[in-house]
Amino acid sequence: MGEAARNRRTSESSGGVCFTAWKCECAKMRKVVLITGASSGIGLALCKRLLAEDDELHLCLACRNMSKAEAVCAALLASHPTAEVTIVQVDVSNLQSFFRASKELKQRYISC
Ligand SMILES: NC(=O)c1ccc[n+]([C@@H]2O[C@H](COP(=O)([O-])OP(=O)(O)OC[C@H]3O[C@@H](n4cnc5c(N)ncnc54)[C@H](OP(=O)(O)O)[C@@H]3O)[C@@H](O)[C@H]2O)c1
Repeated sequence: MGEAARNRRTSESSGGVCFTAWKCECAKMRKVVLITGASSGIGLALCKRLLAEDDELHLCLACRNMSKAEAVCAALLASHPTAEVTIVQVDVSNLQSFFRASKELKQRYISC
């Protein structure tokens, strides 16, 4: 990731839910927001709030349970068809899962 892209990344957290947003230098990529705990509660509410403010976002749902994540992904896309919503599987209590997800995210969003 270049210095400029790194400077444009922001992270926030509240309780156990956190999100990281960054805008890749690659002009064709949308602003990407990574949300943990996105399958329910505060994380899901945050997804809806962000899409209500900007339905051109790319939301990446960081979820442990893929079937719940897929259902949420489909519902968000149905209500916000211009958005992009993807999933990365992660169990944040498992270091191996955390590092695998981290590597996948770098490949998806930071290597263009
Ligand atoms: N609700 C409140 O008023 C409040 C207030 C202050 C702080 N908090 C804190 O904020 C956080 C979220 O609260 P919430 O009410 O939204 O809870 P929630 O409805 O239980 O949602 C928790 C989310 O985190 C995910 N999750 C839990 N363990 C995980 C793991 N090991 N790896 C990946 N994902 C995991 C769950 O996924 P699964 O579907 O796979 O379980 C679910 O999507 C909690 O840490 C809570 O203590 C909440």
